[in-house]
Amino acid sequence: MLLKDKIALVTGSTHNIGLAIARAFAREGAKVIVHSRHQEDAKKIAQEINGDFFVADMAQPDQVGAMFEHIGEKHARIDILVNSVAHSSKPGILDVALEEWNRIMTINLTGYFLCLQHAGKMMKKQGGGSIINISAGSGERSSPGGAAYSVSKGAINALTRQAAVDLAPTVRVNGLISGLVGTPIGQKDMGNRKPEYDMIPLRRIGRPDDVAEAAVFLASDKAGYITNSILPVDGGRLNAMGSGSSR
Ligand SMILES: NC(=O)c1ccc[n+]([C@@H]2O[C@H](COP(=O)([O-])OP(=O)(O)OC[C@H]3O[C@@H](n4cnc5c(N)ncnc54)[C@H](OP(=O)(O)O)[C@@H]3O)[C@@H](O)[C@H]2O)c1
Repeated sequence: MLLKDKIALVTGSTHNIGLAIARAFAREGAKVIVHSRHQEDAKKIAQEINGDFFVADMAQPDQVGAMFEHIGEKHARIDILVNSVAHSSKPGILDVALEEWNRIMTINLTGYFLCLQHAGKMMKKQGGGSIINISAGSGERSSPGGAAYSVSKGAINALTRQAAVDLAPTVRVNGLISGLVGTPIGQKDMGNRKPEYDMIPLRRIGRPDDVAEAAVFLASDKAGYITNSILPVDGGRLNAMGSGSSR
């Protein structure tokens, strides 16, 4: 088992990608703290994987702080943090309302920052740890619309790079860029449309487990010499220059 007895917090872990990561970590022997805004969902998943759970709104710094106090009191350490929550939006730069912009930055960016800061302090004190920030291709390449979401994802990648240097050599910090994944966000909106399919060299949209297996690797000691990396798990889409559907 790659994560035996590790204490791992996966934020946004009751559905889709976060859930797949929580399940994969548990399968590899970790004690996972499941996080959501919804108590019943979090409790149910925690029971399923024999983990712990905590309910917190990422837009409320005191609730985020309380989550890490709980982890300190109950588990006395944190070995792995995966930041996976996200709030998305559709408008482009000219149409996004300031309130919506601020809400997305608060949840997607400041939420990641706060968790990273709390976990990073605990990890430095205990002498080690691994942090993974989940991002999106739109943080590295532009496409029309979704302005606030895309900018927040680009900023998350900058946060990953900055934190990797500030927390070295004790704590490893890496990013995962998820491609189009067959979740309600990925499948329903985009995954079955030919133009998007054509842009993926591996010719399929992703599954939550694709991202989860990469997270297991990055969290584990097998990635002991990897920090400050941002790994696309996207069937090759981000770095492809127009892929075409000839095969
Ligand atoms: N699916 C894709 O195709 C795709 C593509 C690129 C990147 N990604 C990234 O992968 C990650 C997971 O995506 P997903 O598709 O699995 O998304 P998802 O199912 O929508 O999960 C996002 C989670 O964020 C949580 N969340 C949202 N606002 C919150 C808040 N204020 N406080 C606390 N939690 C909050 C929700 O938790 P509750 O509602 O349970 O509280 C939800 O479970 C995200 O970072 C996303 O940007 C996904």
